[in-house]
Amino acid sequence: MKIIHFGKEMQQTAHALHGQGKRIGCVPTMGFLHAGHLSLVKLARERSDVVILTLFVNPTQFGPQEDLAKYPRNFERDAALCREAGVDILFAPEAPEMYAADASIYVVEEKLSRGLCGASRLGHFRGVCTVVAKLFNLCMPHVAVFGEKDAQQFRIIRRMTRDLNFPVEIVSGPTLREADGLAMSSRNTYLSADERQQALVLKRALDETARLFRAGWRDATALKTAMQKIITQAPAAKIDYIEIVDDETLEPVQTLRKPALVALAVFIGKTRLIDNIVLKA
Ligand code: PAF
Repeated sequence: MKIIHFGKEMQQTAHALHGQGKRIGCVPTMGFLHAGHLSLVKLARERSDVVILTLFVNPTQFGPQEDLAKYPRNFERDAALCREAGVDILFAPEAPEMYAADASIYVVEEKLSRGLCGASRLGHFRGVCTVVAKLFNLCMPHVAVFGEKDAQQFRIIRRMTRDLNFPVEIVSGPTLREADGLAMSSRNTYLSADERQQALVLKRALDETARLFRAGWRDATALKTAMQKIITQAPAAKIDYIEIVDDETLEPVQTLRKPALVALAVFIGKTRLIDNIVLKA
């Protein structure tokens, strides 16, 4: 596995791979890898000749009060996991390599990012879109794979790719879960043992919603109330949002007629966790 820290070297390598007719698959990550990331590598592997995993804790997608400084990092462990998973190139730039000190151009999505995490994490998706656009320019992938746990992010990146004509196929991989149902996330490491148990209310609430939907419930307010009841059973839980939105437009829906995204963001103690399901009749 080749490790690249510099943007120029990454771009030259990608150019050379294009020249050799290789298909490049890219898995953008912020590191502290878990089985969920590695399942995305597998999807990229199946769709390409050369897999690039990018590891960059992107400062522009963190708000001033968020966890940029304490975001978990372990480069050696991540590199070993990438090697085992068959990653060909690990692209791990430092922040000054990605952003000039006077950088002043950003990529802003103006519709899909208005609600959900976009409403509670102002500027977050501007940072995500900007860094993903830059990673696409540096790695020149034919296909890029993102996790469905970040449902809004996936839809925004797909929209950005379409609207800015990036020649990249955007693929999503299913959320991987721990044996007890908690969605895998690098941020789960912040949870104490007690919080880890309480965090199961997210999945429980989503499962109950899926059950009620199967039983014929279609009213979004009633479904949200049912989720709220379950989540508030955990004393450490503070709801950031519980939303049911159209799966395409991400606009709130009142009656579920078309595929709908049920998305949650809940603080368990100080840790903000997200999870979601898509409901389709
Ligand atoms: O999902 C993530 O880990 C990040 O938001 C991403 C897509 C790598 C951009 O920094």
